[in-house]
Amino acid sequence: MLVIIQPNKDLASLQAAKLVAAHVRRKPNSVLGLSTGNTPLGTYTELIRMHREEGLDFSSVTTFNLDEYFGLSREHTQSFYTHIHKNFLDHVNVRPDRAHIPNGESRDVDETCSRYEAAIVEAGGIDLQILGIGRTGHIGFNEPTSSLASRTRLKTLSDETISDNSKISGEIPEVAITMGIGTILEAKKILLLAFGGAKANAVARAIEGPISSSCSASALQMHRDVRFILDEEAATELRHRSYYDRVVAQTMKYAPELLGGTND
Ligand code: PGA
Repeated sequence: MLVIIQPNKDLASLQAAKLVAAHVRRKPNSVLGLSTGNTPLGTYTELIRMHREEGLDFSSVTTFNLDEYFGLSREHTQSFYTHIHKNFLDHVNVRPDRAHIPNGESRDVDETCSRYEAAIVEAGGIDLQILGIGRTGHIGFNEPTSSLASRTRLKTLSDETISDNSKISGEIPEVAITMGIGTILEAKKILLLAFGGAKANAVARAIEGPISSSCSASALQMHRDVRFILDEEAATELRHRSYYDRVVAQTMKYAPELLGGTND
């Protein structure tokens, strides 16, 4: 696990974008796991800039979104379908038939969820999964007490999540289709981004707390290739902060590619 703390969210987003871009350049047919919410927006903006100005090519990339509200049409302004198109997919050259988002209007949820899992396997598995974290410690919509082995399924949102997400986008459904924790843990690499003081407690529980379904992000401690990219505020409750900084300094010296390249 690498815990990378940047002075602010803009620098953190740039670093995340560098890591994603390096992955896509190394493996043009990468399978990317995308998340929505506010946190990855700066990363998507930088990836769009790299696509426009530096020729970063997504034409062979496949994407799978983490989750989608249940009961909203794709065109609904609050759907994650709309969110990811508006903020990323409409501005890069991912082929529409390779961009996967759970169907929030499905009439057969079990079938939709198992087909989503099968499509991930058919694509070769997720190479790089981008994640945010909720105040509850959720990844995707895996709210506290979600099974650490869970797969894509319908989940009821917690009170905190409904309150946080309604502040961003108005009234939202109380249920969503989400990849499970077991699904997420199968991604080959994971990048979790967290910004702001409201996330500090969840971040500390995820990185330093016991592995527990009370904080679904703590399951990432079992993953062998995960990077947390934080701003200063999200890092304030970490007890081993100075150690993480030393690890990053040594990594920059001996294996800068693990951090997205040199810090120029
Ligand atoms: P946010 O949501 O990026 O809007 O804070 C993150 C999450 O709930 O996973």
